Amino acid sequence: MCGIVGYVGDRKKTVGVLLDGLTRLEYRGYDSSGIALMDDGRPRVFKSTGKLENLKKKIAKHPLEGLLGIGHTRWATHGDSTEKNAHPHVSAGTSVVHNGIIENYSELKEELIRKGFKFYSDTDTEVLAHLIESCCGGDLSFEDGVREAFRRVEGSYAVAVISDRAPDKVIATRRFSPLIVATGDHENYLASDVPAILPYCRNVIFLEDGDVAVLDKNSVTITDIDGGPVKRDVQTINWDPVSVEKCGYRHFMIKEIHEQPQAVLDTMRGRFSEETGEIFFEGFEGSPYKDINRIMALACGTSYHASLIGKYMIETIARVPVQVEIASEFRYRNPILDKQTLAIAVSQSGETADTSEALHEARAGGAKTLSITNVLMSKIARDAERVIYTHAGPEIGVASTKAFTTQLLVFYLLSVYLGRVKKQIDREKAAELIRDAIRLPQLMQMTLRLDDEIKDLAKEFFHYRNFLYLGRGISYPVAFEGALKLKEVSYIHAEGYAAGEMKHGPIALIDDEMPVVLIAPNDGITYRKILGNLQEVRARRGKIIFLTSDTTPEELRGSVDRVIEIPACNYLLSPLISVIPLQLLAYHIAVLKGTDVDQPRNLAKVVTVE
Ligand code: AGP
Repeated sequence: MCGIVGYVGDRKKTVGVLLDGLTRLEYRGYDSSGIALMDDGRPRVFKSTGKLENLKKKIAKHPLEGLLGIGHTRWATHGDSTEKNAHPHVSAGTSVVHNGIIENYSELKEELIRKGFKFYSDTDTEVLAHLIESCCGGDLSFEDGVREAFRRVEGSYAVAVISDRAPDKVIATRRFSPLIVATGDHENYLASDVPAILPYCRNVIFLEDGDVAVLDKNSVTITDIDGGPVKRDVQTINWDPVSVEKCGYRHFMIKEIHEQPQAVLDTMRGRFSEETGEIFFEGFEGSPYKDINRIMALACGTSYHASLIGKYMIETIARVPVQVEIASEFRYRNPILDKQTLAIAVSQSGETADTSEALHEARAGGAKTLSITNVLMSKIARDAERVIYTHAGPEIGVASTKAFTTQLLVFYLLSVYLGRVKKQIDREKAAELIRDAIRLPQLMQMTLRLDDEIKDLAKEFFHYRNFLYLGRGISYPVAFEGALKLKEVSYIHAEGYAAGEMKHGPIALIDDEMPVVLIAPNDGITYRKILGNLQEVRARRGKIIFLTSDTTPEELRGSVDRVIEIPACNYLLSPLISVIPLQLLAYHIAVLKGTDVDQPRNLAKVVTVE
């Protein structure tokens, strides 16, 4: 949670770069924000509660310049969302912004109070400002003082510091929280994530745990915590800057829903041969998984739902048993692991603390590890032995959409790969499955044409206070995902259920105030059964929205309130299609309700607390 930025270079650009960077990081937290600027050797701090807009308005009243500066957008952990708790935190001439949690802050705080430092906030971060100041006395240079301070800090952090003790430098360090340095021409940048710097430069260094970076206008020096030199590669990022703009769409969520055909295409590109049925994943040379006999998928939220669908795909195609684990629970139940287990950590951001901890647990237990993530060089990507990247591009809306469908595609390709390795499918079958995947972008495009129809549907249904989503087989995790989307962006209570479970309890909820979304692609397997569930809902006067790929649902028209027809496709790929109307429904209902679609209350895109 929280986004940090830093800049040193052109004094006329500084404020703009910081605010622009924070705008692109606002998805990481949006309770309060602030910047600190250094000009004429003196730091100046501006803070505001609420959305970044408030800070921008405040700053607009003071024309500002500064050779360098740091900025922060906050998702509160220690201390509520007040101005005094907003970052930067200050001690004498030193200002600090921080993303993470300082675990030993109470001990450090007591010690610093004994030394005479005064605390003004309820945050753990203020400790860092005072600790750095207390370490900087005597003969130590400012940089050495910062290193000295961080040798004493426990917990997770990405930190940027400026000080009148070194008025031409920004110093940064990290441990367990992401931080990148980007290098420009007589200017250098710092940020929690790539989108913040994308409009300005493409040369990026991903700092590693324990790195300390010193940025001035003309250079970047990286050392370890003891001051020893460290060499890090510069990577060139080829994301298009428009990927972090709304490009005429009203919200990122709707833009990202419409980007799904392209995201899926980008994720499949170069990863298979239609002729030979082969799947290519980087780092998979030498069949690393030929001996595994079990898979555990570890994930949270939408990534967890993708993993539940991945289970169907892998078990159907490769016949390897898959257990799907809620990452936050996994490490607390002494899981049984061995070297024939493959643990797959699934995470859009690659930073989710619960998933990251579960991955460590799996690794410590001797399992082989793989991650599926969207963020290059993210923590989870680096901590697993191998990684398969989804190429969804930056996902800014807090509600995950294109990350979900690209994760599903990766699971599908992985299933075909394992199916071949495990000799469960022959080359022809693999090629056929690949051909089905190739059709996806077009089918998704067709499904997106339902947008207007679903907007109308939303008008009819947005005033309901509860929703039930039901699915069977591979569609039941889609029901979970549909319900989660609606909850998070519209604040309407919604539940996802396996349709067959309805009669074991939830059926008691059904009356004419309960819309029920039935997800029923005609799979030839569970379809007939779900028609039975439909009648059960009807008999209790529930309102039915029926999502199907059946081209002759005429017989049903009298029994359902609305039919949404989606294109038919391979059963295992149907979730990539059936989820789209559910994403659109959640979006349009949220717009009608006037909620903050891209930044719903209480949420953050990246959840780095357990
Ligand atoms: C999805 O819409 C949510 N915002 C959330 O459930 C998310 O999927 C979850 O926090 C996991 O995030 P990750 O994929 O980045 O690990």
